[in-house]
Amino acid sequence: MPGDGIGPEVIEQGKRVLDTVAEVDSFEIDWVDYDYGADRYLRTGKLLTEDDLKELSKYKAIYFGAVGDPRVKSGLLEQGIVLAIRFYFDQYVNLRPVKLYEGVPTPLRGRGSKEINFVCIRENTEDLYGGLGAIVRKPPSRDKLSMVRNKYTLNLEVFSQLSTEGEFAYQIGAITKMGAERVIRYSFEYAQSHGMTKVSTADKANVMPQIYGLWRECFESVAKDYPKIASEMLFADATSMWFVKNPERFHVIVFPNLFGDVLTDLGAAIQGGLGLAPGGNINPEGTSMFEPIHGSAPSYRGKNVTNPLAAILAGAMMLEHLGFHKSSEKVEGAVAAVLKEGRVRTYDLGGVSKTSEMGKAVCEHISQEANA
Ligand code: IPM
Ligand code: MG
Repeated sequence: MPGDGIGPEVIEQGKRVLDTVAEVDSFEIDWVDYDYGADRYLRTGKLLTEDDLKELSKYKAIYFGAVGDPRVKSGLLEQGIVLAIRFYFDQYVNLRPVKLYEGVPTPLRGRGSKEINFVCIRENTEDLYGGLGAIVRKPPSRDKLSMVRNKYTLNLEVFSQLSTEGEFAYQIGAITKMGAERVIRYSFEYAQSHGMTKVSTADKANVMPQIYGLWRECFESVAKDYPKIASEMLFADATSMWFVKNPERFHVIVFPNLFGDVLTDLGAAIQGGLGLAPGGNINPEGTSMFEPIHGSAPSYRGKNVTNPLAAILAGAMMLEHLGFHKSSEKVEGAVAAVLKEGRVRTYDLGGVSKTSEMGKAVCEHISQEANA
């Protein structure tokens, strides 16, 4: 699903790289392309229909570029396509490694690849992303408010104050024990299987003691099952500071959805920018989706200048997920080698190379290694 903006050009390079490694490792990838995104929406009025989702459920993995287009109201494509897929397929793990490759400049002074190498795991189906909320344009009378209160079993005392003033809006974050436990357990399992010795979590349990209190209960109870792995519970505001001051303190860090969204963009910045940050939306038993975490960057569309490495690394994550471990390592190794060499560099890395030149360099490296 290449999507909109620069999605198609970065996915093209990703497919090229994956086809190259497939050839080297003697397997074949049967790509099936879907045109979900802005153009199809403007043509047909369709975002993702039930039928589209059923169609996608045939697959174990979706390779996705980005959606977003200035002709479409902001949020429509994001919610109707990206979030629809994450929720429909219950892709409860959003795996976002933060790894600074050698040769890539980081904005953090005095820090290098040794310090910036950890994995963010973002809960991907709950929290404030659940879509529970409303803008109340005509504030209800006090009697009606108590009805609303009963309906949503909300503490609406604050709202009843506001209601005398005018419009108000609310958004509810919900966390389930099942939802928190499964992603937290995934994080500890991930640490264990990757030889990492610490799992952190970050939330705002100090001001939202209900949802993040339950989150913490789950974290503490799962942590007990992994006595050899250290665990720590942090606040998200302080964590944003640690990302900048002491990124080396993190191994695996698991977040509730919204804080994970925010902090992983910061993670991308310290690993050299959004052009280098891949992500996987994973349902270990179902259909997963792999994507560069950057957006569609419409103003760069078709210019062949953006960095395809985030998309290529997302492709490597997809191979890993599908069990092609060696091939995944080859792709990542080739990306690391191209970055270290520094000959081919897109503008975000201070160079003038084209998107396609970057893809080509990665392919060449894979082929050379195979012939060595
Ligand atoms: C991300 C994006 C999405 C999100 C948008 C596009 C809905 O920012 O993948 O981080 O908020 O999760
Ligand atoms: Mg985001």
